[in-house]
Amino acid sequence: MPQTVFITGTSSGIGAATVRLFARHGWQVAATMRNPADAKFDDLPNVRVYALDVTDAAAAPRAIQQAHADFGGLDVLINNAGYGLAGPFESATDEQIQQQFATNVFGVFAVTRAALPLLRAQKSGVIINVTSVGGRTAFPMNSLYHATKFGLDGFSESLWYELAPFGVRVKVVAPGGVATDFASRSLQMTMDPADDGNPYAGQVRSVLKAFGERGGAFSTAEQIAEVIYTAATDGTPQLRYIAGTDAQSILAAKAQMSEGQFAEMIQQGFGLK
Ligand SMILES: NC(=O)c1ccc[n+]([C@@H]2O[C@H](COP(=O)([O-])OP(=O)(O)OC[C@H]3O[C@@H](n4cnc5c(N)ncnc54)[C@H](OP(=O)(O)O)[C@@H]3O)[C@@H](O)[C@H]2O)c1
Repeated sequence: MPQTVFITGTSSGIGAATVRLFARHGWQVAATMRNPADAKFDDLPNVRVYALDVTDAAAAPRAIQQAHADFGGLDVLINNAGYGLAGPFESATDEQIQQQFATNVFGVFAVTRAALPLLRAQKSGVIINVTSVGGRTAFPMNSLYHATKFGLDGFSESLWYELAPFGVRVKVVAPGGVATDFASRSLQMTMDPADDGNPYAGQVRSVLKAFGERGGAFSTAEQIAEVIYTAATDGTPQLRYIAGTDAQSILAAKAQMSEGQFAEMIQQGFGLK
């Protein structure tokens, strides 16, 4: 019997590429998204689309149970849905902060809690949380996004221990920059970068410019999907998979430098010094 994967945030980017890759490998795929009308998987017979806004905690158990009933199992959960909130912390509204955590953190909690009774009872399964290199190191002007991804990284590491006795593995896939809708339609800002009256305007513009110039080094969504597939199928207890050469090289540099040296390199790299 084919294995079943349940994936959040599959309307575009990494989520959509991951649906296609697992489907190509013969898996049964529960592709979830806020608006099922956005699905582009008509050519894939082993994919079923389910509505799931991860901020709707009541919807998560419904989607998990429906997919489990339709496919007759659940082997891998991929918590991928998420978006970036950039700009100065001071300018963020309460609503922006709550929405960022509701999606990137509480959404993962809700879907994971819905899946756990099934995985624990069957004594097998893999939970993959798509975090970010920004869950291991921080860049300027992204404090709230980093708070969510550092949070998920620590959550995953602790859960790894908690679920090991039940045969359930927890994994983190931490991509560097990826060419998706992340930096365009999905990105939210805590201030208008053109607002010269904001005391952070100069910093924001420098940081956005530096991120823009890095685009050429980005991975493709398909490359990150391959790492997710490896994490799902390699049969090892490995916790973290750093995905993308940019992510690997910055974390390697951080490991070799003092905190002061690293901070100076980041400030210079983002035009802040
Ligand atoms: N691209 C990067 O550079 C990068 C780097 C590191 C980590 N990541 C992480 O990778 C993951 C996927 O992002 P991506 O790069 O593929 O960007 P993307 O193309 O913008 O995809 C983000 C997906 O998340 C979905 N989503 C947002 N809020 C949701 C909600 N409340 N409920 C359900 N789905 C929701 C979006 O759905 P809608 O279509 O409904 O908006 C979309 O399908 C995110 O967790 C992101 O933080 C991305």
